[in-house]
Amino acid sequence: MKQEQQWSSKIGFILAAAGSAIGLGAIWKFPYVMATSGGGAFFLIFLLFTIFIGLPLLLAELIIGRSTGKDAIRAYKTIAPTGYWHLLGYLGTATSFIIFSFYSVIGGWILLYFGRSLTGSLLHHNLVFSDLFKEITANPLAVTSAQLLFILITIYVVAKGVSTGIEKASQFMMPALFILFLVLVVRSLTLEGASEGVRYFLMPDFNKLTKDAVIYAMGQSFFCLSIGVSVMVTYSSYLDKRETLTKSSISIVSLNLLTTILAGFAIFPAVFSFGMEPTAGPGLLFVVLPSIFEQMAFGSVFLVIFMALFLFATLSSAFSLLEIIVAVIVKGDASKRKKYSWIVGFCVFLVGIPCSLSFGPMSDMTLFGKTFFDLADYLASYILLPIGVFLISIFVGYRFPRARLVEELCKESAWWRKGTVYYVMLLRYIIPIVVIIVFLNIFGVL
Ligand code: PHE
Ligand code: NA
Repeated sequence: MKQEQQWSSKIGFILAAAGSAIGLGAIWKFPYVMATSGGGAFFLIFLLFTIFIGLPLLLAELIIGRSTGKDAIRAYKTIAPTGYWHLLGYLGTATSFIIFSFYSVIGGWILLYFGRSLTGSLLHHNLVFSDLFKEITANPLAVTSAQLLFILITIYVVAKGVSTGIEKASQFMMPALFILFLVLVVRSLTLEGASEGVRYFLMPDFNKLTKDAVIYAMGQSFFCLSIGVSVMVTYSSYLDKRETLTKSSISIVSLNLLTTILAGFAIFPAVFSFGMEPTAGPGLLFVVLPSIFEQMAFGSVFLVIFMALFLFATLSSAFSLLEIIVAVIVKGDASKRKKYSWIVGFCVFLVGIPCSLSFGPMSDMTLFGKTFFDLADYLASYILLPIGVFLISIFVGYRFPRARLVEELCKESAWWRKGTVYYVMLLRYIIPIVVIIVFLNIFGVL
């Protein structure tokens, strides 16, 4: 049996894991969810969730993966051979499947926009950008074939393997993303009237918070870090036993927060400068970006570069969504990787079609007032992710052998000999209680 590869370096792992985290969550979803949930105050709550729950939980997932070196299902089985904990692996795999099915829709849109930016037809037409967005996303054939193409690229990279596929791609894509993002931020901040956008982003006004803001902030912080679905368990299982985890998790969270902040600084000043509504929903990014570049010297060149970068950001997250499923199926046998990457990818495509059509022919088919797309997003991001986070917290807090936890953590700093107690308290009590309170809140129980 040909064994799975490993990451070839620690930085390769961090870039791949940060690549999984940094994606549509930070760049596409965050600005519009923040706008519809209350602006700057939402951002503050999001920050608290990211630092006090997201970071410790990310560390917990890394510990599970690295200490077992196994895929999401077998990792839980290895630590807890009896009981039902391995169902947590199934839950993560299923959630990843659902996320991938709507994630690939946006991936497809980005491909379509990328194509149009190449031919120049993104800037030169006689529609306003919001109508162009509607036209593009309502075309059933275009969106489904773009979605398929996006999935095919993901399959291609994942089928190549861990260090030769995912790591190599991320190592090139992530640094490029940061550098070009900075250019965008500078342009946006120097637009006329930009300061209003900055104020909107950074000045919390708690009166503006909507009723559901806290659940959205929580779900969004988990989604942005790729936690709660054992994707990070899978990625850290390919990590060398000697590598340290605390620093890695801090690096991943910091890079992710940095991107979220850059996205805020790129989008809101432009939104206010052009007099748009920040609450425009899923189309926000796709309407704002062309508007910025239209007014910029060499705008059409920059637009091409940017669409490519958003594609990178989205792809690197899609890799991890496919990887966890493939890893669970092949169970470390690298010779099966290729075949199952293709099979799983196609299944995701089939399930994803209704999500793709949610902005066109199937936009009237709703359940609980939500289209397929919204339903998949809501179910995964605001229900399944928090459940996953809750259970993983309990698992590491209660079931993971304490001596082994101390041993894993002390590899990098002796502080953990004492500090683990606090960490376990956080995992046992604080995180589960907070998640439950927020969770019951959405169902109107509290
Ligand atoms: N973190 C990714 C993003 O923000 C989405 C994701 C969630 C990826 C869960 C993997 C697992 O775009
Ligand atoms: Na990504």
